[in-house]
Amino acid sequence: MLYSKNGFNQARFRRDIVGINKRVPLAGGGYKTYVNLDNAASTPVLRPVLHKVNEFMDWYSSVHRGAGFKSLVSTHVYDRAHEIVGGLVNADLKTNGIVFVKNATEAINKLSYRLGFTRGDVVITTMMEHHSNDLPWRLKAGTVYAAVDEKGALDYKDLEAKIALHGSRLKLISVSGASNVTGYKCDVARIATMAHRAGVPILVDGAQLIPHSPLDIKPDGHPEHIDYLVFSAHKMYAPFGTGVLIGPKKAFLRGAPEYTGGGTVNIVTHQLVEWAGIPDREEAGSPNVVGAVALAAAIEYLERCCMDNIEKYEKGLTSYTLKRLGEIKGLKIYGETDPNRTENRVGVIAFNLDGVPHSLVAAALAWEGGIAVRNGCFCAQPYMLRLLGLDQHQLSRLIHKKRTGDLSGIPGMVRISLAAYNNRKDIDRFIECLGQIKNMARSGELAKRYAFSQQTGSYYPRDVKVDPAKAFKLS
Ligand code: ALA
Repeated sequence: MLYSKNGFNQARFRRDIVGINKRVPLAGGGYKTYVNLDNAASTPVLRPVLHKVNEFMDWYSSVHRGAGFKSLVSTHVYDRAHEIVGGLVNADLKTNGIVFVKNATEAINKLSYRLGFTRGDVVITTMMEHHSNDLPWRLKAGTVYAAVDEKGALDYKDLEAKIALHGSRLKLISVSGASNVTGYKCDVARIATMAHRAGVPILVDGAQLIPHSPLDIKPDGHPEHIDYLVFSAHKMYAPFGTGVLIGPKKAFLRGAPEYTGGGTVNIVTHQLVEWAGIPDREEAGSPNVVGAVALAAAIEYLERCCMDNIEKYEKGLTSYTLKRLGEIKGLKIYGETDPNRTENRVGVIAFNLDGVPHSLVAAALAWEGGIAVRNGCFCAQPYMLRLLGLDQHQLSRLIHKKRTGDLSGIPGMVRISLAAYNNRKDIDRFIECLGQIKNMARSGELAKRYAFSQQTGSYYPRDVKVDPAKAFKLS
């Protein structure tokens, strides 16, 4: 159930977030309720997901390996979770495999091994990719990058030209569903059509898309069919270590899996090995059934809310955020800045505050306002460098700094990333704090109160009274 006309009970969703009222210490003393605007990295867990996991623990046992009743229950739950995941994106389970791995990064790496590239093969990806949808291809095939414009949006003409240029050497087109830097959404239906016209499959890195937007991968053979899809449970309210790789079963039938061992085989003698079916051959070792339960529970929760309602709500919040950010002078937003143009984006917004290092802004948001953001390059360095417009001289300086361990003045951005449980009050608190930080920077207060650590490349308050290492004790 990806689409619905029913309303979205946002207040209920928010209440269902574990830790939503957690208070965190501030630099000058005192506490504030945490505002998490770092959902592109990891979302918090939904309480019903946590409950389902706890409920399941009574039944927890080995999967595909035991005759005991609990093992049978765990096996059933694990297999059923695959079906629920397939159902989220309308995958045809007769022809498509749902493979559980650790996260989206592992899913792409696995596929890069399983596609069996040979010398001269080419993968086209884009200039906006997370390193996870870039580095695995570089090691296995010629990797070509479709260009982006100055706002970070994909240049479809360049993609088309690169497809034509590489002809029969082209073996895959692999694109972000949504960027983890600008929130820009690729038109995956259009790219799928382009890929299929060229006779190659498409992979969509759905890590930043699936939690925020409905995606129907369309039937096999449809021009807009998404052949391969990856995403991560920890970005969709189920942080228990599951990643998903969906793809045609026949693609996994070629050759041996990259990891072999327990659970991957039908028969082994010292003379022969016959691999098991899909997904078993791709999920070596005892599987993470707890992660599978969590992901299935999160999907069922999100489907009840309905993904189109979530998307609509998040677009409204993104638009509001862009409007409020527009009130702050001296702020540079990367990517689309128009609050009325949210059709091709998710709620990820990267920015810089004039004259204030990104790492100082991020630290001050955390320690002055209890607001969590991420700063730096977001594991998407080539995209960042393009958006920041670094010239060759600046790039050489940056490389030299990194090589020599000088972490001062490293270019980057501050990023906020919204999720369906965030509300306008979160945004108002963030905007207010950003305004204060700007004033503190101007008055010199910020420089007085925060010190830079060469070791980590981050700023910390000089007079911090609380040690994060003591906030939660493992033993
Ligand atoms: N890829 C995640 C992020 O952008 C971890 O923060």
